[in-house]
Amino acid sequence: MLLRIIYVSRASSSLPLELKDILASSRKNNRALRVTGAMGFLDGLYLQYLEGDASVVTTLYKRIEEDPRHSEPKILESKAISERAFPGWSMGLLTWNDETKKVFQKFNLSGSLDLYDADAATIDSLVRSLAASANWMALS
Ligand SMILES: Cc1cc2nc3c(=O)[nH]c(=O)nc-3n(C[C@H](O)[C@H](O)[C@H](O)COP(=O)(O)O)c2cc1C
Repeated sequence: MLLRIIYVSRASSSLPLELKDILASSRKNNRALRVTGAMGFLDGLYLQYLEGDASVVTTLYKRIEEDPRHSEPKILESKAISERAFPGWSMGLLTWNDETKKVFQKFNLSGSLDLYDADAATIDSLVRSLAASANWMALS
């Protein structure tokens, strides 16, 4: 069974170097685990979308949850899916710019901080819209 987990967390540091390291690990490990997805580093928050075999994604999320580079992880959605949204990407990176902000506004989210309170249906539509926008950098 394919599972996707979408969560938000607070970054411990605003250092771009941490994000670089996280993406490097993700790219290496996720490819081996056949996990795909995308993440954004938005105003001090991480928003990550993970998809893959249910047990693999669950185990990976438990490891990520304990990473000191972020805190207060909150699962916004955990759901069985029939196909992947990001089949080609071990971990895509969303860039935070005016276009991204407009997508957030479309869902009445003034900024990334509102993510903690967003319901699953909103998150689902938000991720679909973000995935369809041109703001993703694929890191195969
Ligand atoms: C916000 C965030 C997202 C992460 N996403 C992933 C991921 O998708 N895949 C992964 O293997 N590690 C991810 N990590 C890193 C893991 O917590 C952990 O450091 C890593 O898997 C350890 O593997 P390594 O020793 O090969 O680097 C993430 C960490 C943070 C803080």
